[in-house]
Amino acid sequence: MTAEETTAHGASLSIRRAGKTFPGGVVALAPTDLDLPAGEILVLLGPSGCGKTTLLRLVAGLGAPDPGGAVLFDGVDVTTVPIERRRVGMVFQSYALFPNMTVAENVGYGLKVRGEPKSSRDAEVGRLLDMVGLAELSDRPVDRISGGQRQRVALARAIAIRPKILLLDEPLSALDAALREKLRIELARLLRRFAITAIHVTHDQAEAMAIGDRIAVMNQGRIVQLGTPEDVYVRPADRFVAGFVGVMNRLPGRLLPGCGVAEAFFRPEAVAVGPPEAGSVVAMVTAATFFGAYRRLTLDVAGHAVEAEVPAERPVRPGDAVSLAVDPARLHVFPT
Ligand SMILES: Nc1ncnc2c1ncn2[C@@H]1O[C@H](COP(=O)(O)OP(=O)(O)OP(=O)(O)O)[C@@H](O)[C@H]1O
Ligand SMILES: [Mg+2]
Repeated sequence: MTAEETTAHGASLSIRRAGKTFPGGVVALAPTDLDLPAGEILVLLGPSGCGKTTLLRLVAGLGAPDPGGAVLFDGVDVTTVPIERRRVGMVFQSYALFPNMTVAENVGYGLKVRGEPKSSRDAEVGRLLDMVGLAELSDRPVDRISGGQRQRVALARAIAIRPKILLLDEPLSALDAALREKLRIELARLLRRFAITAIHVTHDQAEAMAIGDRIAVMNQGRIVQLGTPEDVYVRPADRFVAGFVGVMNRLPGRLLPGCGVAEAFFRPEAVAVGPPEAGSVVAMVTAATFFGAYRRLTLDVAGHAVEAEVPAERPVRPGDAVSLAVDPARLHVFPT
């Protein structure tokens, strides 16, 4: 068997009116519909407590949906199928590796439990370790490898059982910022290489953008927008998404003559900054940060902070007075 043949393709997933109410009446998840084609990577993005883990647990079979809800893998209703028979792979924040086992033993654990003979198990573990770049560490105990390496062991272990669906619950959140940024790119590449149906949970919008084919933005137990990273950034469905994904400015409309809305939402890249002129909106530069390709400015507009970007070679400094104009085509308007 070649490395290519180890790629699991996974099942399609459908969730039908699945909600979750905890004792005491806490609605962790409102009745939710969701469809993932086989091989898609969906990111659940939202603030703490919005229901991300609850949704993941319903898919895994770690909890039953409220009556009337259903979970289907490849069109087959698995709502009453217990977790051990659903063939889901899971990677958690803590990774939950077996500390007294080597890298290879961890990855092969699920296959051993399933009774696979040692020879085929070893071959499969070897292939997976090659794919995640850990072949040299195969005999190392997992308590003597780095955080990033542990994350790859956890991923290989979850993939080894050839899951129908892979579920990842904030698998990068225990790592420091620099490593997290590096690993999010690596994780996205590996998931695509495994071509597996996956749901990845995060509250980090940059991670969501890097990993998801689509992003489901959640708030207070509901999916409030489902779309590609570009959809969610360029056409946020409501104020919540606008404020949660990427940097979004908001100004009272009266401060932008002619814009005709009560409250204007716009991205930094929609702002044009020029020399102060009579009749224009005047702002004061309060901060200017050089980012190599551009300079990020914080402007004070009548007491409101606005983020803007100018070409890096423009010598704008804190204390400068500038004029500000917003591209009307890139104004977002939301009903109040
Ligand atoms: N076993 C439980 N009993 C009662 N309420 C619960 C239980 N589990 C979760 N909740 C509540 O349901 C809501 C959603 O929780 P959930 O764990 O799904 O959030 P989350 O989006 O994963 O948050 P985080 O980003 O902090 O992990 C929260 O208000 C939480 O307090
Ligand atoms: Mg959670």
